[in-house]
Order: sequence, then C-alpha cells, then structure tokens
Amino acid sequence: MSDKTITIQTSSAEETQALGERIGRALEPGVVIALTGGLGAGKTTLTKGIARGLEVADIIHSPTFTLIHEHEGRLPVYHFDLYRLDTPEQLDDLGHEDYFYGGGVAVIEWAERAGDLLPPDRVDIHITGEDDLRTLEISSTGPVSARIVERLAR
Ligand SMILES: Nc1ncnc2c1ncn2[C@@H]1O[C@H](COP(=O)(O)OP(=O)(O)OP(=O)(O)O)[C@@H](O)[C@H]1O
Ligand SMILES: [Mg+2]
Repeated sequence: MSDKTITIQTSSAEETQALGERIGRALEPGVVIALTGGLGAGKTTLTKGIARGLEVADIIHSPTFTLIHEHEGRLPVYHFDLYRLDTPEQLDDLGHEDYFYGGGVAVIEWAERAGDLLPPDRVDIHITGEDDLRTLEISSTGPVSARIVERLAR
C-alpha cells in the first residue's frame, strides 16, 4: 500500500481542535500519531481535539514534566510530550513499547525526539504557520496509518 499525504489549513485554534476531533473519530487501536512543529505550533491544541474525538472526558494539557499522561476514552489514550526528553533511550525506562504497540492510541508531541524508537507505521503530523493560520501536513508511513489518512481524505 502506498503512503499518503494530505495538507489541511486551519485559521483558528478552534478549527485545529475540530480537525483533531475528526482525527480522533477516525482512529483505531494501535495507531501512533507523531506530532512535530515548533514551540506553540498547535500540537497540544490538536491533541485536545483528538482526545475529544476519542471521547476522553479529562482535560488535556501539556504533560511537560511527566513525559506521558494516560487517559481513558473510547480507547486508551497515551499522550506524550517529549520536549524534555534528553535521549531516546529514556523512553526505554518508560516501557514505551507497551504504549506504541498496545491496544490504545499514542499521541506524541515533539515526536522527533524519540528518534529510531518511533514505530515504523505511524501518522506523522507536521504543523507550521504563524498568527492564526496553521498548515498541517498529515502523512502515513505504513498500512495502518494509511488507512487513517485515507479516512481523513474523504
Ligand atoms: N490555527 C491555529 N491552530 C492551533 N493553535 C492556534 C491557531 N491559531 C492560533 N493558535 C494558538 O497557538 C497556540 C498553540 O499552542 P499549543 O500549546 O497547542 O502549541 P504546542 O505546539 O503544543 O506548543 P509546545 O511546543 O509548547 O508544546 C495556542 O495559544 C493557540 O490558541
Ligand atoms: Mg504542547
């Protein structure tokens, strides 16, 4: 199956959350979402929407000092923020494989910091932009993520 990229623009935080909600509804067990983009790009804003789409009732915020927060929704949601990760090996101490290859959904802010430990099949979302305008480039890197991106493209 060939990988797929779609590009979506939003013009407010609310629109980014609404897009996240659509993504959350399209997810299935075992999907990993790798978020990249600079400080304030909108990674947490998108994650809030994804959590809402997965019927998570908790408030989502940046788990800056904890690396991971777990939430219960339609599926378990593992929200990572790797901003403070010094080396990818630190993820081994967390038992990241249970989160990346389990029955829940992992949403990873600053995903590039995980390096080679990121799973091969994941939905990559890169966010750029300034003022209120954001561009989200959403791409698949394998068969499971391709199915998700296909759903979003419709
Ligand atoms: N179109 C937009 N999409 C998302 N956020 C937007 C948009 N327009 C403005 N914003 C604002 O940009 C900020 C995004 O912050 P957010 O915490 O989501 O970014 P982040 O990528 O998680 O940052 P960090 O790197 O600190 O984790 C918020 O203040 C939000 O209101
Ligand atoms: Mg954030």
